[in-house]
Amino acid sequence: MTDSAALRLVILISGRGSNMAAIAQACASGRIAARVTRVIADRGDAAGLALARQLGIEALAVPRQGFADRDAFETELRRQIDQAAPDLVVLAGFMRVLGPEFVAAYAGRLLNIHPSLLPRHKGLGTHQKVLDAGEREHGASVHFVTAELDGGPVVLQARVPVRTGDDVERLSARVQRCEHIIYPQVVEWFASGRLRCGSAGIELDGQPLAAPLVEDFDGLCS
Ligand code: GAR
Repeated sequence: MTDSAALRLVILISGRGSNMAAIAQACASGRIAARVTRVIADRGDAAGLALARQLGIEALAVPRQGFADRDAFETELRRQIDQAAPDLVVLAGFMRVLGPEFVAAYAGRLLNIHPSLLPRHKGLGTHQKVLDAGEREHGASVHFVTAELDGGPVVLQARVPVRTGDDVERLSARVQRCEHIIYPQVVEWFASGRLRCGSAGIELDGQPLAAPLVEDFDGLCS
């Protein structure tokens, strides 16, 4: 596939951008037949902006505080996304709830990664919630985004053990190492045409996906 024919990705971030980098590197290496055409952060101090530029990707901020309300912010965000003409929009640590109009504009081509085994622990603070509940397993979920917060159909989950002595830092690091494997995997399925999400739900290789796929990472991630 020539570069101009490759699927176009826009990635939205708020912070470090390690998932963005994992996906961008998989594209650059040819493992994913796609090109990251633009990275957008909702804050000017997101460390991932510099990381994207180091990877040769155009990166810009649309700071939320520059807008009177969510509608005005999302209108500008959509303008900046649409300028880059993406086939797929990837939320990678984008820490903002998006409104129903925004979500509808990218229906079926908007992915997110959430640091829990959805439907468990929607929202923020997932690692602490798992520790507080004394749960023995945790993980991350890649899902299509719908108007329901962290409620869209899940494609693939990484499951990791919670170990004795874990704190938020250790547990989140374990989860993130797995995120960097499963998120590029799902983007690759989408880019190669194996994965679709329509009104009837998710299809992988032409078959409905009745339940999320789960990969166990008890050995790989220390
Ligand atoms: C990731 O762990 C991701 O799962 C989480 O933010 C982190 C971003 O890290 N996302 C959410 O909590 C979304 N609700 P990164 O900036 O290094 O990719």
